[in-house]
Amino acid sequence: MKLNSLITIILIMGLASCSNTKTENSMAENNALEVLKSRRSIRSYQDKMPEKELIAQIVEAGTYAPTGMGKQSPIIVAVTNRDTRDQLAEMNAKIMGVDTDPFYGAPVVLVVLADKQYPTYLYDGSLVMGNLMNAAQAVGLGSCWIHRAKEVFETPEGKALLKEWGIEGDYEGIGNCIIGYSAQETPQAKPRKPDYVRYIE
Ligand SMILES: Cc1cc2nc3c(=O)[nH]c(=O)nc-3n(C[C@H](O)[C@H](O)[C@H](O)COP(=O)(O)O)c2cc1C
Repeated sequence: MKLNSLITIILIMGLASCSNTKTENSMAENNALEVLKSRRSIRSYQDKMPEKELIAQIVEAGTYAPTGMGKQSPIIVAVTNRDTRDQLAEMNAKIMGVDTDPFYGAPVVLVVLADKQYPTYLYDGSLVMGNLMNAAQAVGLGSCWIHRAKEVFETPEGKALLKEWGIEGDYEGIGNCIIGYSAQETPQAKPRKPDYVRYIE
């Protein structure tokens, strides 16, 4: 083969691979946007433990949330143990003053706590919660933010749990991200309020 033809072939191959990467990137971007927009709070779950690999992927995505000055103030406690999950549900329900399951039957609770010594801990922990819920959607699992983690881990029972888990320091409960296989139709998102976004151009 002549040198000229060889160079032309190499150039064409290079261009083709560039345009492939571009298409793949924009597909990935579209998928990401679709995940963000289609995630809804799920409030009914199948009695089926999600695969360990899926839980690991969700938790890993949580750890990549941005944090103030990159200090990584939050921690995630992935609870799959049935007794601990039930204990957390009971403590949460007690704070709410109800005797129903605040975790809606979800088998997994990802407890997010954040170290109060960092001024951005609340924002950091909330972003982790967002990542967890969106990651759950991305791998085909349902999720919901369940509140009152702050109050739960301020009780003597909550503090004892933290000790048992080897968590020392000034940690505040940010939220409980329940996950599992959905047992309901995905609800429709409420229409976004018309003045949600202002463009200053
Ligand atoms: C800070 C926060 C606390 C929440 N606490 C609860 C809760 O305790 N129980 C619950 O069922 N949903 C809870 N949610 C879920 C919201 O009710 C839900 O996100 C909202 O209704 C919008 O619905 P969507 O998530 O399907 O878009 C909470 C959400 C946030 C952001």
